[in-house]
Amino acid sequence: MRIGVIGTGRIGTIHANTLSRHREVGSLILTDADGARAQELAHRLGETAAPGVDEIFKWGVDAVVITTATSAHAELIGRAARSGLPVFCEKPIALDLPGTLQAIAEVETAGTILQMGFQRRFDAGYTGAREAVRSGRLGRLHTVRALTSDQAPPPAEWLPLSGGLYRDTLIHDFDILRWVTGHEVVDVYAAGSDAGPPMFRAAGDVDTAAAVLTLDDGTLATATATRLNGAGYDVRMELAGELDQVVVGLDDRTPIASTEPTGPPAADKPWTGFLERFGPAYEAELAAFIEVVRGERANPCDGREALQALRIAEACELSRRERRAVRLAELPGSTSAAAL
Ligand SMILES: NC(=O)c1ccc[n+]([C@@H]2O[C@H](COP(=O)([O-])OP(=O)(O)OC[C@H]3O[C@@H](n4cnc5c(N)ncnc54)[C@H](O)[C@@H]3O)[C@@H](O)[C@H]2O)c1
Repeated sequence: MRIGVIGTGRIGTIHANTLSRHREVGSLILTDADGARAQELAHRLGETAAPGVDEIFKWGVDAVVITTATSAHAELIGRAARSGLPVFCEKPIALDLPGTLQAIAEVETAGTILQMGFQRRFDAGYTGAREAVRSGRLGRLHTVRALTSDQAPPPAEWLPLSGGLYRDTLIHDFDILRWVTGHEVVDVYAAGSDAGPPMFRAAGDVDTAAAVLTLDDGTLATATATRLNGAGYDVRMELAGELDQVVVGLDDRTPIASTEPTGPPAADKPWTGFLERFGPAYEAELAAFIEVVRGERANPCDGREALQALRIAEACELSRRERRAVRLAELPGSTSAAAL
């Protein structure tokens, strides 16, 4: 199989490394708006660099992996769909709902594959939580607490490209909340703070955010995120039911110290970022994509799944700005086919 990788920045480099080692992948063609970056990676991996996106399509590939900045995803998804090519794309599809709906419509009209990069669906901890919920072991679920804390803020110039903390970061928590619980979010109330470094306020973003979400079965969830967690990279989810409770992301690298005299010791080597915390999950999602392309398994996360996560992020952004509860039904793009 020959795969085109568009975008060779942080996540594109990780994915190209994984694909280059995969036994079903014969070769890669890499490209990036920064041509030197693609060439350097291609040289390191023993793969080929293309001067631009056009060549990826002209030279011929069996599938495309899109790891550019988010603003380019939707157009590239549409282009691959019109060429009849399966696509793996990093989250989110676009920074707005119209762009997301348009890309999904292109994929569905072409009848091609779009798998989205919500890698937490391949993480052992979240998979265990999903099984705990579905097995009935927790009893009726009443509370979910999700959090994502980055250790260090991103560069200031990257912030305006990110779409903000809800669309860029909390979108992972929103996707995995739906996947683990099997329920839809019906309304949200969100708040954000830009009391940290001034670059967040300058970008119209927040450095810390919190949301209360109500699920369609009455379960209550909270989701928080920050770009400023000096202790380390912390991603957790606690699920509490009437019979039992479980936690994802609590291990000997969780960057939190107990203040109890008999509490566990602080982590010797706390997680520092998503690349190491989710390394195995990134590999597993791409292995799954290759199986999907080969017709060996169903798509584990299609465009409509990504749409739902973005709708929750959009509702939170609206709630934060207007300081009010927002019902998901206020937003366009419900899951029904008729809405597209
Ligand atoms: N799933 C995850 O955990 C995860 C983690 C990080 C980033 N991401 C997503 O991956 C994407 C990339 O993020 P990143 O952190 O690697 O960013 P990055 O800035 O490190 O890399 C993006 C690359 O895309 C290139 N690029 C931008 N527009 C392009 C275009 N039109 N054509 C070709 N190349 C183009 C840039 O030159 C850059 O090299 C984003 O959508 C982000 O949301 C996902």
